[in-house]
Amino acid sequence: MSKKNVLEDFLKDYLDRSLRLRFDICTCVDCRARMTELILKRVPAVFVDTDDPDYESKKNAAAKDNIRRTFDATNKVIEEVSLSGAHAGDADKEKAFDDLIERIKETRGIDFSSYHRGILKRRLALRLAATKCDSYVKYLKVLAGDPHEYDRLFDELTINVSEFFRDLEMWEKLKNIIGRLAADKKGRDQAVTVWSAACAGGEEPYSIAMTTRISGLGSAQVKILATDIDRQAIKAAMAGVYKSEKLIKVISKVRALMGCDIRDYFSPCGQDLHLAADIKAMVDFQWHDLVTSEYPTNSDIILCRNVFIYFTKPLQERVLDRFYRVLNNNGFLIIGKSETLAPEARVVFREFDIENKIYQKIG
Ligand SMILES: C[S@@+](CC[C@H](N)C(=O)[O-])C[C@H]1O[C@@H](n2cnc3c(N)ncnc32)[C@H](O)[C@@H]1O
Repeated sequence: MSKKNVLEDFLKDYLDRSLRLRFDICTCVDCRARMTELILKRVPAVFVDTDDPDYESKKNAAAKDNIRRTFDATNKVIEEVSLSGAHAGDADKEKAFDDLIERIKETRGIDFSSYHRGILKRRLALRLAATKCDSYVKYLKVLAGDPHEYDRLFDELTINVSEFFRDLEMWEKLKNIIGRLAADKKGRDQAVTVWSAACAGGEEPYSIAMTTRISGLGSAQVKILATDIDRQAIKAAMAGVYKSEKLIKVISKVRALMGCDIRDYFSPCGQDLHLAADIKAMVDFQWHDLVTSEYPTNSDIILCRNVFIYFTKPLQERVLDRFYRVLNNNGFLIIGKSETLAPEARVVFREFDIENKIYQKIG
């Protein structure tokens, strides 16, 4: 009979999930191994006999009991290890990089200076490779000679990857929150207002619209605003046409969790799926820059998922402060599953559902 720490796989999975969107730090094999080692030291082991008939249920119970501890340990360890893994920079290269960011700001009015440099550099590297440049200086010349290259660069830097019902469990919680708020507002003849900030190609706000429908509510009861800095992404979102493979992997999961077949909201057209007109009509799309634009007021729920990851801490704090100001009292803020809310923000946002990264405005 042998004993095994049943938390080991769970901790490794949790670390993998937390690192999935961390383009800003080194996540090489050595760094990951060091992180795993430290996390395993910090979360006390739970040993179970491998031939125990209740092995699986004990393993699941141990994971459930240790979510908070795992969350804290993982975040601390990632920060610690990534500090020691900082790479030395080359002063000229850094200067050329700054010039590039400044040039984008001057010519396109988009300020990437408070985004994580590591992420921007990784994305830029893709354009440098595509244009066969081996330095930022050469790439600046390409930009000067070809205005369309700005669009390609911008496309690369904004990263509009999204999914319908991304992080599925969160959607069931959101459905409950919308249902409760709508019931509360019904007597006052008011609608629940939801803002999908940084909505990419529309998968998130349309998932909100479908969730609203699944709850038996309509556009009179729930108003959805969706914004993004990327005009191309907004245009695509408004068209509401998606590749069928985008949907296939979530259909059965949404059915199992929410009892609804989301294919009912689409009609096939060749390789594509066209979103139903009434779902499209539920979402108001607008261009908006979280860094420089005025924020829309009176939201009951703000979803800003998988965006903070690109922002430096001071920018995150500025954006959070503005979300706090425009959220209605007791309103909800939802961030991405792999993101963390700066500790300072926890004074004004309480944890409502830590696993699904749902926070509630205090006050
Ligand atoms: C990875 S997508 C997230 C999409 C969606 N929220 C989700 O979680 O699936 C990030 C989006 O943030 C947008 N974005 C980046 N910087 C922004 C800014 N300053 N203001 C508004 N949107 C921004 C990008 O254009 C991109 O569409």
